[in-house]
Amino acid sequence: QEVRVFAPATVANVACGYDVLGFAIDSPGDEIVVRHCSKPGLHITAITGDEGKLPKAAEKNTAGVAALDLLRHLGMTDRGIEMEIHKKMPFGSGLGSSAASAVAGAYAVNCLIGQPLTKKQILPFAMAGEASADGAWHADNVAPCLLGGIVFIRSNEELDIAQIAPPKDLWAAVVHPDIEVLTKVAREILPKEIPLLNATQQIGNLGGLLCGLIQEDYGLISRSLHDVIAEPRRQKLIPDFYKAKHAAINSGALGFSISGAGPSVFALCEGEESAHRVAKAIARVFDAVPLGNQAYVSRI
Ligand code: HSE
Repeated sequence: QEVRVFAPATVANVACGYDVLGFAIDSPGDEIVVRHCSKPGLHITAITGDEGKLPKAAEKNTAGVAALDLLRHLGMTDRGIEMEIHKKMPFGSGLGSSAASAVAGAYAVNCLIGQPLTKKQILPFAMAGEASADGAWHADNVAPCLLGGIVFIRSNEELDIAQIAPPKDLWAAVVHPDIEVLTKVAREILPKEIPLLNATQQIGNLGGLLCGLIQEDYGLISRSLHDVIAEPRRQKLIPDFYKAKHAAINSGALGFSISGAGPSVFALCEGEESAHRVAKAIARVFDAVPLGNQAYVSRI
């Protein structure tokens, strides 16, 4: 028996929801294949698309850590399992690449052993896998990658999460400029403390965005898509960020910000046509190649 799993890219933060809000997009994504084998333990037999960067030792690999954590929890580490990892999105892109591998690893193994756990029960193991890569504990990539759609995380520590049904006509344009930003670095440049005024603005925007999504109020979504905490600091790591933002807004985007820790950027749009127009306008600023390679359009 063989199990093949696809785990999609995700946009974390969604402007005003630093570490607490994220959504999944249709593509790109990572693929993992697992099968039983006679040799006890988890063995990563092949990795493609990683330019040789990922470790094959299961306990050092994001997907391996997530899968091993799950097997340990179930007392099944003596099972013989082979894993193939096919990376189909760039590292350090802000598209939740390590989260996708962690989710795919844990989910695939759970399927192979007869699905003893629900998707929500898999979440902490996938998070442990991602944390092994970036050292931080946040579910804003892992949760939407695993559950799909938009996910709000009230508490990362308690893993108290809520899924939000996306408005029918909400689309995302996501563009990856061809540079690498390490999540660790993008987190280190953020302030430890923020002025009360900024906190109030951010809370207002996050509340507005959640209400707008639930009420399908595109005007409220648009007015709320602002990040006064991370974006002003992180944009410095993304050349031409504000040029791209102007291009997106002038092309009709509801709002625009950094995807996760960057350098990818995203815009939310009402309707598919608008999302295509906005993706093209952003891609032009970054000289990104046409749709499907570094620019993606997806219904949320
Ligand atoms: N919420 C995280 C951050 C996402 O902004 O650092 C990156 O993985």
